Amino acid sequence: MKTAFGVDQLNHPDVIRNPYPYYDLLRDQSPLFGYRDFPPGTMPGVDDPSPSWVVLNFDHVAAVAWDHENFSSRDSLQEESSAPSLMLVNHDRPEHTRLRKVASKVFQPASIKSLSPAVDALVRQAMDEFFVTDRPVDVMTDFCAMLPSRVMAYLFGMPDDMDRDVRNWATAFMLSADISPQARQAYNEEAMAFFADHVRDNMDRISKGEDPSGPLLNAFIRTEVDGDRLSFEEIVRFCMTATVAGAETTSFYLGNLITVFADFPDIWQDFVEGPNLFDAIYKEVLRFHGPPQRLFRVATRDITIGKADIKRGDWVACFFGAANYDPNVFPEPYEFRLNRKNANRHMSFGYGIHRCLGAPLAQLEAESTARMLRERYQQIERAGEPVWQDVSLLNHGLASNPVIFRERS
Ligand code: HEM
Repeated sequence: MKTAFGVDQLNHPDVIRNPYPYYDLLRDQSPLFGYRDFPPGTMPGVDDPSPSWVVLNFDHVAAVAWDHENFSSRDSLQEESSAPSLMLVNHDRPEHTRLRKVASKVFQPASIKSLSPAVDALVRQAMDEFFVTDRPVDVMTDFCAMLPSRVMAYLFGMPDDMDRDVRNWATAFMLSADISPQARQAYNEEAMAFFADHVRDNMDRISKGEDPSGPLLNAFIRTEVDGDRLSFEEIVRFCMTATVAGAETTSFYLGNLITVFADFPDIWQDFVEGPNLFDAIYKEVLRFHGPPQRLFRVATRDITIGKADIKRGDWVACFFGAANYDPNVFPEPYEFRLNRKNANRHMSFGYGIHRCLGAPLAQLEAESTARMLRERYQQIERAGEPVWQDVSLLNHGLASNPVIFRERS
């Protein structure tokens, strides 16, 4: 990398692996222009990214994410590409309000909480299958990769052996792996074709009075708000959205959580002695190693942010990960601290009307994983250098995360 670091280098592999020191070099100059990167769903090698603004300090990120009128979530690049556009994530008001009303009812906290026994069973099964004691285990390859996919497959009532398909579809869409544009497109088409058949089948069975498996899918089909239901096409797209928004982010989050346990033995010990600390650990991991580092918006009119005159139609990359390390909001951001009074202000679930709908489900998976790790193991030790993925800033997380689990005596 050249010595004077610039905004055009934010997608360099060194930055993707560990972006925080690079954000520090640029944060005071935010907003900056000249970043080029791919929004989710677009195709490196086929689509051409637009040069965009970059906002890096907490106030600028909050201003852009909150202001859904002046900053649209519709992604023309994605709409023009062969990838399916996502529900909610890529909708503006008024469509967003209508869809979010129905989807919020589907994701209401009591419904998500009722999934707890099923999620626990999937966590237990995955630990039995993938973890051994006293020998190195790469938790990314199997457990973190597969658990969220299995949860999604269960929630959609898919055959158990389709967990790898869910994983591949999510990885391809979220640009987490270096695969060819043809393979990406093939995965998108396969996922959409599968969900179309599967949703049709579940709808037919529900209309005949049957009760097919797949609690989330069936809730999408059945839920009605003020006489309004989702159309067939919308349900198919919701399945795709939950797959790509829910599986990949949670995989990386779980890897980041286990990394914290392995690399900060004091935190692990505190958690072993005080399981109530989970909530604080969960939030600080979101701040410290939040999966999505940045997402895009498009200005709907000329607007000034800080010293930048942003023009209608300009792309703006909202760096949630840089906001999480803004020292004006999170003092000594490189310290992993469980007593931050403003821990809730992390931006890893976004901010404003698009704030993550699946956050309670992500928390359920993380909490169940942490609880079972604590029940089973005395210690989680680092067994080799962790390797951070360097393909895309869409998700900050590990490609390889070798640890050794030591059993309770
Ligand atoms: C640790 C795991 C997760 C992280 C870090 C995360 C992060 C985010 C972020 C940053 C946004 C805001 C997008 C924006 O502002 O444009 C978002 C939105 C969303 N997430 Fe998550 N997510 C996670 C898990 C999940 C899960 C498990 C699901 C569902 C199964 C899910 C479904 C959604 C949906 C549907 C939206 C769109 C909400 C809207 O636009 O109204 N997410 N997520």
